[in-house]
Amino acid sequence: MNTQLLEASDLNIIQAARLLQVGQLVAFPTETVYGLGANALDAQAVKNIFAAKQRPADNPLIVHIGETAQAQALCHWTETARLLADAFWPGPLTLVLQKKSIVPDIVTAGLSSVAIRMPGHAVAIKLIQAASLPIAAPSANSSGHPSPTMAQHVLDDLRGRIPLILDGGRCQVGLESTVLDLQDRVPTILRPGAVTPEQIVLIIGDCRVADSVMRPLRPGEPALSPGMRHRHYAPKARLTLVEGGKEAVAREICQAYDAAPGTRIMAMHDHLPLYGQRLVDDLGPDAIAAAQRLFYLLRVYDEQNVTQIYSETLPPTGLGLAVMNRLTRAAKFDIIHTG
Ligand code: TXA
Ligand code: MG
Repeated sequence: MNTQLLEASDLNIIQAARLLQVGQLVAFPTETVYGLGANALDAQAVKNIFAAKQRPADNPLIVHIGETAQAQALCHWTETARLLADAFWPGPLTLVLQKKSIVPDIVTAGLSSVAIRMPGHAVAIKLIQAASLPIAAPSANSSGHPSPTMAQHVLDDLRGRIPLILDGGRCQVGLESTVLDLQDRVPTILRPGAVTPEQIVLIIGDCRVADSVMRPLRPGEPALSPGMRHRHYAPKARLTLVEGGKEAVAREICQAYDAAPGTRIMAMHDHLPLYGQRLVDDLGPDAIAAAQRLFYLLRVYDEQNVTQIYSETLPPTGLGLAVMNRLTRAAKFDIIHTG
């Protein structure tokens, strides 16, 4: 199959919507990462998503909608959901609610719940509205690769497997949405993202972060979110995180770098002087910048066949929690603690 990469003009969005209506797959930009979309109500189209990504069948998809009212056809909508949707939609928050039978089982991997979000990107919204359909869309990477933050990343992973990629430039957030499970009395963050626990508490007064967000699953432990069972965000290189005071961290990383030529370093912008003349990849001034750059850098390392990366850590608060969730998984929890 020939894969077209087209600028996300209004005309091309209409062409993409037509493809979705006849059961084809289309990759499109959102504010978080690129998504690989199909008609969420067409089980065969959704099956093709799993095949194109080589995604394990037990990992459910997020259904994207163009207006809040659409959610009520798909799930048992609640007052808490309404408050959160009013506050954060369109935006990087996915809500997990009891599903209605109109949603095919393949979308939810057989679960009785469905994940729903209204993306905060004009192209995504125009596409969903032009198709007049709810769109099931995981991140548009092949399974196990970092999520794509540029159209070129999608092409690198899915060339020949899908007919069309809409190019909407770089994704503003750079990390996938916050996944919030609303089925329990206390809403639980299954995957941290740009909508932070602190922001959610302000709206609904309560919110818990699943403790598996920052540690590996124990053998035999059931995953709250099926996505947590699978190996994620894994670069080809070994990634080691170094935690502690900034001087001690830089000393440790510099030693490792000097001992092994070709080692790469990821560090926060303000700390760059601590690394002297060494080649350092700048994570930027804050967690917002680090979130935008992380997956991009991991893909560059893969392309350059880097074998060892050392990275600083960020405080796990605000968006830092999402960055650290992805970093610790990419590092397979290889973390050195310094003084
Ligand atoms: O920002 C995003 O969320 C992007 C863009 C394209 O919207 N999408 C995305 O989808 O990251 P995906 O499929 O890569 O990640 C969806 C996550 C997985 O961890 C999955 O296990 C979880 O959401 N999930 C989906 N449905 C669920 C459900 N019913 N219960 C619990 N977790 C669910
Ligand atoms: Mg994904």
